[in-house]
Amino acid sequence: MTENVAQPIYDWEGFGFDTRQVHAGEYPDKNSGLRVPPIALSAGYLFDDFDDQVNRFNGSIHWRSDEHPGHGEPGGFSPSEHAPIYSRQGNPTNWVAEERLASLEGGTVSVAVASGQAAISAALFALAQQGEHIVSTGSIYGGTRILFGRSFKRFGIEFDYVWDADDDAEWERAIRPSTKAIYTETIPNPRNDITDLRRIAEVAARHNLPVVVDNTVGTPALIRPFEHGANIVVHSTTKFLTGHGAAVGGAVIDGGNFDWDAAERAGRSYPLITQSSRPGVPSMLDRFGRGAYARAVRESVVNDIGPTLSPLHGFLLHQGMETLSLRMERHVTSSLRVAAWLEQQPEVLSVDYAGLPSSPLHELAVRNYGADDAGRGRTGSVFGVTVRGGVDGARALVNGVRVFSRMTGIGDTRSMIIHPLTSTHGTFSPEINERLGITPGLLRLSVGLESADDLIRDLRSALDRVAAL
Ligand SMILES: Cc1ncc(COP(=O)(O)O)c(C=O)c1O
Repeated sequence: MTENVAQPIYDWEGFGFDTRQVHAGEYPDKNSGLRVPPIALSAGYLFDDFDDQVNRFNGSIHWRSDEHPGHGEPGGFSPSEHAPIYSRQGNPTNWVAEERLASLEGGTVSVAVASGQAAISAALFALAQQGEHIVSTGSIYGGTRILFGRSFKRFGIEFDYVWDADDDAEWERAIRPSTKAIYTETIPNPRNDITDLRRIAEVAARHNLPVVVDNTVGTPALIRPFEHGANIVVHSTTKFLTGHGAAVGGAVIDGGNFDWDAAERAGRSYPLITQSSRPGVPSMLDRFGRGAYARAVRESVVNDIGPTLSPLHGFLLHQGMETLSLRMERHVTSSLRVAAWLEQQPEVLSVDYAGLPSSPLHELAVRNYGADDAGRGRTGSVFGVTVRGGVDGARALVNGVRVFSRMTGIGDTRSMIIHPLTSTHGTFSPEINERLGITPGLLRLSVGLESADDLIRDLRSALDRVAAL
């Protein structure tokens, strides 16, 4: 291996979140001393000689973990990390983003991919195959529900939904012998109806199932699902992590805390992780221990299907994460101001923000997300508001804003507004939308980094149009 290939030289374990978001994953550039990890635009990599090529392809140079201990993970690096072959499997720019994100989430290894949808797909394809089954909580991002009901269905993987995550009987009815994972989100949108991850993790543990959590809206700055018993985290890095609305991306993070052997013994088989793929090659679990799942995602799913993150976007991602906690602080502070103010407006019927004392989820919000000085839970910056007048009221509000952008998307520096019933949830049946609380007057807000005073003024002048109906 050449000296210049990325080798993390710092052990950032034990350092604070703000330090790790700036430094984790960085590596020294011995050629030119560049301080900012550069954009490595190369589809392939030079092999030193014939044997180096052989060893990189069969992966043997990195099977033994102690030679190259990676970020907090006993499993060491896989061939595509730090002894790369081709950029579909890995790229030095993306490694920075991957290690930084693994460090922030407190996981072992992460895999960056081209979008949030790609992350969810890769995460679950590594666990389930045709004829198998996954249980999801009911309130999840609309695009994910469409992905599950369309593409996963066509591949023969079925989903059942649990609507009341506190209801053990509902879980027991949904989980089958062929179930391979439980899927949920930290802060679902549009209604900020947060989940009690610990309860879900307890149910999963009873059934030897890994819990996969989409932490796009929560972000590791507000909640780290592995601390609540989750096993795998996925992200649309398009949102808060990259942070500026410019680059689509995604990531899968391995918590390194799921006992694949115990699951296998209990009759739940995960062949990509626990079984050898060809004679003479040990299983991912034998080779990579606590990083085995992420290696299965990278080498057995992403490498096959090819949703690779461009290094340009990998750069924007690792740079975006440097300011994550600062941005999230402002996102949450402004959201709490806007949400509490909205509740007082005569044109507003309700505000769905779990952290507000008026929410039935307030106690859970404070427990899992901490409280501000006024005792309100810090549950992110994406939430719902329902105005008087149904669709007409919603239209008046959307048409009346200037600072808020009328667009789909969340987690940008810019504030955004959208009408879920006619957009993100437009293809769902009336029954599903009723269960999800997607009503004609509901709007989704994503509060950005503008001045909260300006956001409130903007909403007030738009609400005047609602009042005039
Ligand atoms: C919670 C959540 N997960 C996943 C996705 C999909 O991410 P992407 O648009 O990056 O594919 C989104 C997109 O809005 C999302 O909000």
